[in-house]
Amino acid sequence: MTDDNRLPDEADGSLAFAHPSEREFAQILDFYGLKWEYEPRSFPLKWEGDRVLEMLTPDFYLADLDLYVELTTLKQSLVTEKNRKIRHMGEMYPDVNVKLLYRRDYHRLLAKYGFGPLAQAEVRGIDRVLFTAPQIERRVAQLGRQISRDYKKREPVLVGVLRGMLCFMADLMRDISLPVEVEFMATSSYRGEDQSSVRITKDLDAGITGRDVVLVEDIVDSGMTLNYLVGYLRSKDPASLEVCALLDKRARRIVDVPVKYVGFEIPDEFVVGYGLDYLEKYRNLPFIGTLKPDPNG
Ligand code: PRP
Repeated sequence: MTDDNRLPDEADGSLAFAHPSEREFAQILDFYGLKWEYEPRSFPLKWEGDRVLEMLTPDFYLADLDLYVELTTLKQSLVTEKNRKIRHMGEMYPDVNVKLLYRRDYHRLLAKYGFGPLAQAEVRGIDRVLFTAPQIERRVAQLGRQISRDYKKREPVLVGVLRGMLCFMADLMRDISLPVEVEFMATSSYRGEDQSSVRITKDLDAGITGRDVVLVEDIVDSGMTLNYLVGYLRSKDPASLEVCALLDKRARRIVDVPVKYVGFEIPDEFVVGYGLDYLEKYRNLPFIGTLKPDPNG
Protein backbone atom coordinates (compact mmCIF):
# COMPACT_ATOMS: atom_id res chain seq x y z
CA MET A 1 0.00 0.00 0.00
CA THR A 2 1.23 3.51 -0.71
CA ASP A 3 0.97 6.30 1.85
CA ASP A 4 -1.90 7.96 0.02
CA ASN A 5 -3.70 4.62 -0.18
CA ARG A 6 -3.67 4.46 -3.96
CA LEU A 7 -2.79 1.30 -5.74
CA PRO A 8 0.95 1.10 -6.24
CA ASP A 9 2.40 0.40 -9.63
CA GLU A 10 2.99 -3.31 -9.77
CA ALA A 11 5.61 -2.83 -12.47
CA ASP A 12 8.04 -1.58 -9.88
CA GLY A 13 7.51 -4.74 -7.89
CA SER A 14 6.38 -2.82 -4.80
CA LEU A 15 3.18 -4.81 -4.45
CA ALA A 16 1.73 -7.59 -6.48
CA PHE A 17 -1.66 -8.94 -5.62
CA ALA A 18 -1.85 -12.69 -5.45
CA HIS A 19 -5.08 -12.67 -7.43
CA PRO A 20 -6.74 -10.16 -9.82
CA SER A 21 -9.87 -10.18 -7.65
CA GLU A 22 -7.81 -8.69 -4.83
CA ARG A 23 -6.73 -5.81 -7.04
CA GLU A 24 -10.34 -5.20 -8.07
CA PHE A 25 -11.47 -5.31 -4.44
CA ALA A 26 -8.73 -2.80 -3.54
CA GLN A 27 -10.05 -0.50 -6.25
CA ILE A 28 -13.56 -0.70 -4.84
CA LEU A 29 -12.23 0.14 -1.38
CA ASP A 30 -10.28 3.07 -2.83
CA PHE A 31 -13.38 4.27 -4.60
CA TYR A 32 -15.28 4.45 -1.32
CA GLY A 33 -12.35 6.06 0.50
CA LEU A 34 -11.79 3.08 2.78
CA LYS A 35 -8.15 2.82 3.84
CA TRP A 36 -6.64 -0.60 3.39
CA GLU A 37 -3.43 -2.54 3.82
CA TYR A 38 -2.67 -5.66 1.88
CA GLU A 39 -1.74 -8.74 3.94
CA PRO A 40 -0.19 -6.71 6.76
CA ARG A 41 -0.28 -9.45 9.39
CA SER A 42 -0.19 -13.21 9.72
CA PHE A 43 -1.93 -15.02 12.51
CA PRO A 44 -0.19 -18.23 13.63
CA LEU A 45 -2.76 -20.95 14.25
CA LYS A 46 -0.73 -24.05 15.05
CA TRP A 47 2.74 -24.56 16.48
CA GLU A 48 5.17 -27.36 17.06
CA GLY A 49 7.62 -26.04 19.60
CA ASP A 50 8.77 -22.71 18.16
CA ARG A 51 7.86 -23.65 14.64
CA VAL A 52 4.61 -22.30 13.18
CA LEU A 53 2.85 -25.11 11.35
CA GLU A 54 -0.20 -23.23 10.20
CA MET A 55 -1.14 -19.60 9.87
CA LEU A 56 -3.64 -17.33 8.21
CA THR A 57 -2.76 -14.09 6.46
CA PRO A 58 -6.01 -12.25 5.70
CA ASP A 59 -5.88 -10.38 2.39
CA PHE A 60 -6.83 -6.95 3.65
CA TYR A 61 -6.88 -4.90 6.82
CA LEU A 62 -9.29 -1.97 6.87
CA ALA A 63 -7.83 0.22 9.61
CA ASP A 64 -10.78 2.59 10.05
CA LEU A 65 -13.07 -0.37 10.66
CA ASP A 66 -10.49 -2.45 12.50
CA LEU A 67 -11.50 -5.29 10.20
CA TYR A 68 -9.61 -7.99 8.35
CA VAL A 69 -11.13 -9.24 5.10
CA GLU A 70 -10.31 -12.51 3.48
CA LEU A 71 -11.50 -12.95 -0.09
CA THR A 72 -12.20 -16.44 -1.20
CA THR A 73 -12.79 -16.58 -4.90
CA LEU A 74 -12.35 -20.32 -4.94
CA LYS A 75 -15.21 -22.64 -5.70
CA GLN A 76 -17.56 -23.05 -2.75
CA SER A 77 -16.57 -26.70 -2.43
CA LEU A 78 -12.95 -25.74 -1.79
CA VAL A 79 -13.78 -23.15 0.80
CA THR A 80 -14.28 -25.54 3.71
CA GLU A 81 -10.62 -25.44 4.66
CA LYS A 82 -10.54 -21.66 4.69
CA ASN A 83 -13.69 -21.61 6.78
CA ARG A 84 -12.07 -23.89 9.30
CA LYS A 85 -9.06 -21.59 9.54
CA ILE A 86 -11.23 -18.52 9.98
CA ARG A 87 -13.19 -20.24 12.77
CA HIS A 88 -9.96 -21.33 14.40
CA MET A 89 -8.65 -17.78 14.14
CA GLY A 90 -11.82 -16.48 15.81
CA GLU A 91 -11.24 -18.81 18.75
CA MET A 92 -7.55 -17.98 19.12
CA TYR A 93 -7.83 -14.23 18.51
CA PRO A 94 -11.29 -13.33 19.80
CA ASP A 95 -10.55 -9.58 19.72
CA VAL A 96 -9.69 -9.59 16.03
CA ASN A 97 -12.52 -8.92 13.57
CA VAL A 98 -12.27 -10.94 10.42
CA LYS A 99 -14.75 -11.35 7.62
CA LEU A 100 -14.72 -13.92 4.86
CA LEU A 101 -16.08 -12.76 1.52
CA TYR A 102 -17.22 -15.69 -0.56
CA ARG A 103 -16.90 -15.94 -4.31
CA ARG A 104 -20.62 -15.36 -4.67
CA ASP A 105 -20.53 -12.22 -2.44
CA TYR A 106 -17.62 -10.94 -4.41
CA HIS A 107 -19.23 -11.54 -7.81
CA ARG A 108 -22.39 -9.82 -6.65
CA LEU A 109 -20.40 -6.87 -5.44
CA LEU A 110 -18.77 -6.61 -8.85
CA ALA A 111 -22.03 -7.19 -10.72
CA LYS A 112 -23.56 -4.28 -8.86
CA TYR A 113 -21.06 -2.10 -10.67
CA GLY A 114 -21.39 -3.82 -14.02
CA PHE A 115 -18.40 -6.15 -13.80
CA GLY A 116 -17.71 -9.82 -13.48
CA PRO A 117 -19.57 -12.89 -14.68
CA LEU A 118 -22.97 -11.95 -13.21
CA ALA A 119 -22.96 -8.55 -14.89
CA GLN A 120 -23.60 -10.15 -18.27
CA ALA A 121 -26.56 -12.16 -17.04
CA GLU A 122 -29.76 -11.92 -18.99
CA VAL A 123 -32.53 -9.95 -17.36
CA ARG A 124 -34.07 -12.44 -15.03
CA GLY A 125 -37.59 -12.96 -13.82
CA ILE A 126 -39.21 -12.56 -10.44
CA ASP A 127 -38.79 -15.60 -8.27
CA ARG A 128 -41.04 -14.74 -5.36
CA VAL A 129 -42.61 -11.77 -3.63
CA LEU A 130 -40.82 -10.89 -0.44
CA PHE A 131 -43.04 -7.99 0.66
CA THR A 132 -46.42 -7.18 -0.80
CA ALA A 133 -47.59 -3.62 -1.41
CA PRO A 134 -49.83 -3.61 1.74
CA GLN A 135 -46.98 -5.01 3.87
CA ILE A 136 -44.67 -2.26 2.65
CA GLU A 137 -47.35 0.36 3.20
CA ARG A 138 -47.88 -0.74 6.82
CA ARG A 139 -44.19 -0.85 7.64
CA VAL A 140 -43.44 2.51 6.04
CA ALA A 141 -46.33 4.04 8.00
CA GLN A 142 -44.81 2.66 11.22
CA LEU A 143 -41.45 4.18 10.36
CA GLY A 144 -43.16 7.49 9.63
CA ARG A 145 -44.86 7.44 13.02
CA GLN A 146 -41.64 6.57 14.78
CA ILE A 147 -39.77 9.42 13.08
CA SER A 148 -42.65 11.81 13.88
CA ARG A 149 -42.37 10.88 17.58
CA ASP A 150 -38.56 11.05 17.68
CA TYR A 151 -38.39 14.44 15.99
CA LYS A 152 -41.34 16.02 17.76
CA LYS A 153 -41.27 19.83 17.54
CA ARG A 154 -38.39 19.68 15.09
CA GLU A 155 -38.26 20.05 11.33
CA PRO A 156 -36.02 17.35 9.95
CA VAL A 157 -34.47 17.37 6.49
CA LEU A 158 -34.90 14.08 4.66
CA VAL A 159 -31.96 13.48 2.35
CA GLY A 160 -32.64 10.84 -0.30
CA VAL A 161 -29.96 9.20 -2.39
CA LEU A 162 -31.11 8.77 -5.97
CA ARG A 163 -32.55 6.66 -7.37
CA GLY A 164 -33.56 3.53 -5.47
CA MET A 165 -35.29 5.40 -2.62
CA LEU A 166 -37.83 7.19 -4.79
CA CYS A 167 -40.92 5.13 -3.85
CA PHE A 168 -39.82 4.85 -0.24
CA MET A 169 -39.21 8.59 0.13
CA ALA A 170 -42.51 9.48 -1.52
CA ASP A 171 -44.45 7.30 0.93
CA LEU A 172 -42.35 7.96 4.02
CA MET A 173 -42.56 11.75 3.80
CA ARG A 174 -46.37 11.53 3.67
CA ASP A 175 -46.35 9.33 6.77
CA ILE A 176 -44.41 11.89 8.80
CA SER A 177 -46.69 14.28 10.64
CA LEU A 178 -44.14 17.07 10.99
CA PRO A 179 -42.98 19.80 8.67
CA VAL A 180 -40.15 18.21 6.70
CA GLU A 181 -37.84 19.36 3.97
CA VAL A 182 -36.65 17.03 1.27
CA GLU A 183 -33.27 17.04 -0.43
CA PHE A 184 -31.73 14.70 -2.96
CA MET A 185 -28.21 13.64 -3.73
CA ALA A 186 -26.72 11.38 -6.35
CA THR A 187 -23.35 9.72 -6.50
CA SER A 188 -21.44 8.03 -9.29
CA SER A 189 -21.15 4.29 -9.11
CA TYR A 190 -17.93 2.37 -9.11
CA ARG A 191 -16.79 1.85 -12.70
CA GLY A 192 -13.39 0.23 -12.51
CA GLU A 193 -9.95 1.66 -12.91
CA ASP A 194 -10.93 4.94 -14.52
CA GLN A 195 -12.71 6.19 -11.39
CA SER A 196 -10.76 6.36 -8.20
CA SER A 197 -13.28 7.71 -5.73
CA VAL A 198 -16.98 8.35 -5.18
CA ARG A 199 -18.07 11.47 -7.01
CA ILE A 200 -21.14 13.39 -5.95
CA THR A 201 -22.99 13.96 -9.20
CA LYS A 202 -25.81 15.87 -7.54
CA ASP A 203 -25.18 17.68 -4.30
CA LEU A 204 -27.60 19.08 -1.75
CA ASP A 205 -29.37 22.23 -2.89
CA ALA A 206 -29.74 23.65 0.63
CA GLY A 207 -27.35 23.81 3.59
CA ILE A 208 -27.83 21.30 6.40
CA THR A 209 -25.57 22.89 9.01
CA GLY A 210 -27.39 22.84 12.34
CA ARG A 211 -30.29 20.84 10.89
CA ASP A 212 -31.65 17.47 11.94
CA VAL A 213 -30.89 15.24 9.00
CA VAL A 214 -32.35 11.84 8.18
CA LEU A 215 -30.55 10.09 5.36
CA VAL A 216 -33.07 7.96 3.47
CA GLU A 217 -31.84 4.88 1.60
CA ASP A 218 -33.66 2.05 -0.10
CA ILE A 219 -31.11 -0.61 0.84
CA VAL A 220 -27.94 -1.05 2.82
CA ASP A 221 -25.87 -3.82 1.36
CA SER A 222 -22.08 -3.69 1.81
CA GLY A 223 -22.56 -0.39 3.66
CA MET A 224 -19.85 1.33 1.63
CA THR A 225 -22.13 3.92 0.01
CA LEU A 226 -23.68 4.78 3.36
CA ASN A 227 -20.31 5.03 5.06
CA TYR A 228 -19.17 7.51 2.44
CA LEU A 229 -22.35 9.58 2.55
CA VAL A 230 -22.53 9.70 6.34
CA GLY A 231 -18.94 11.00 6.37
CA TYR A 232 -19.82 13.61 3.76
CA LEU A 233 -22.97 14.81 5.53
CA ARG A 234 -21.20 14.88 8.92
CA SER A 235 -18.63 17.25 7.44
CA LYS A 236 -21.48 19.76 6.98
CA ASP A 237 -22.08 19.89 10.75
CA PRO A 238 -25.74 18.96 11.00
CA ALA A 239 -27.32 19.13 14.47
CA SER A 240 -28.00 15.42 14.19
CA LEU A 241 -27.73 12.72 11.57
CA GLU A 242 -29.58 9.40 11.48
CA VAL A 243 -30.14 6.84 8.78
CA CYS A 244 -33.45 5.38 7.66
CA ALA A 245 -33.22 2.42 5.28
CA LEU A 246 -36.13 0.44 3.95
CA LEU A 247 -34.09 -2.74 3.54
CA ASP A 248 -31.13 -4.01 5.47
CA LYS A 249 -29.13 -6.89 4.02
CA ARG A 250 -27.01 -7.46 7.08
CA ALA A 251 -25.41 -10.65 5.85
CA ARG A 252 -23.45 -8.71 3.24
CA ARG A 253 -22.16 -5.91 5.39
CA ILE A 254 -18.54 -4.93 5.01
CA VAL A 255 -18.74 -1.52 6.68
CA ASP A 256 -20.98 -1.39 9.71
CA VAL A 257 -22.67 2.03 9.79
CA PRO A 258 -25.44 2.42 12.41
CA VAL A 259 -28.90 2.46 10.84
CA LYS A 260 -31.48 3.75 13.30
CA TYR A 261 -34.62 3.11 11.28
CA VAL A 262 -34.89 -0.14 9.36
CA GLY A 263 -37.97 -1.24 7.45
CA PHE A 264 -37.14 -4.89 6.90
CA GLU A 265 -34.11 -7.07 7.35
CA ILE A 266 -33.75 -9.20 4.26
CA PRO A 267 -31.85 -12.36 3.37
CA ASP A 268 -28.85 -12.36 1.07
CA GLU A 269 -30.83 -12.36 -2.16
CA PHE A 270 -31.06 -9.92 -5.03
CA VAL A 271 -34.22 -7.88 -4.57
CA VAL A 272 -36.07 -5.57 -6.94
CA GLY A 273 -39.23 -3.50 -7.04
CA TYR A 274 -40.61 -0.49 -5.14
CA GLY A 275 -37.77 1.63 -6.55
CA LEU A 276 -35.03 -1.02 -6.61
CA ASP A 277 -33.68 -2.12 -9.95
CA TYR A 278 -31.80 -4.82 -11.76
CA LEU A 279 -30.11 -3.29 -14.82
CA GLU A 280 -32.53 -0.35 -14.43
CA LYS A 281 -35.59 -2.60 -14.71
CA TYR A 282 -38.26 -3.51 -12.15
CA ARG A 283 -38.23 -0.17 -10.29
CA ASN A 284 -41.94 0.30 -10.95
CA LEU A 285 -43.12 -2.94 -9.35
CA PRO A 286 -45.41 -2.12 -6.42
CA PHE A 287 -43.99 -5.02 -4.37
CA ILE A 288 -40.47 -6.16 -3.47
CA GLY A 289 -39.46 -9.49 -4.94
CA THR A 290 -36.41 -11.66 -5.42
CA LEU A 291 -34.97 -12.50 -8.81
CA LYS A 292 -34.69 -16.04 -10.09
CA PRO A 293 -31.27 -17.33 -9.10
CA ASP A 294 -28.66 -17.06 -11.80
CA PRO A 295 -27.35 -20.46 -12.89
CA ASN A 296 -23.77 -19.11 -12.73
CA GLY A 297 -24.24 -17.51 -9.33
C1 PRP B 1 -28.02 1.11 -4.02
C2 PRP B 1 -28.66 1.77 -2.81
C3 PRP B 1 -27.50 2.27 -2.02
C4 PRP B 1 -26.40 1.31 -2.38
C5 PRP B 1 -26.20 0.37 -1.25
O1 PRP B 1 -27.80 2.06 -5.00
O2 PRP B 1 -29.52 2.81 -3.17
O3 PRP B 1 -27.16 3.59 -2.35
O4 PRP B 1 -26.79 0.59 -3.54
O5 PRP B 1 -25.16 -0.51 -1.53
P1 PRP B 1 -23.89 -0.66 -0.59
O6 PRP B 1 -24.38 -0.79 0.82
O7 PRP B 1 -23.25 -1.96 -1.08
O8 PRP B 1 -22.99 0.51 -0.81
P2 PRP B 1 -27.45 1.69 -6.51
O9 PRP B 1 -25.98 1.88 -6.72
O10 PRP B 1 -28.01 0.34 -6.84
O11 PRP B 1 -28.16 2.84 -7.33
P3 PRP B 1 -29.73 3.20 -7.44
O12 PRP B 1 -30.18 3.67 -6.09
O13 PRP B 1 -29.76 4.29 -8.47
O14 PRP B 1 -30.48 1.96 -7.89
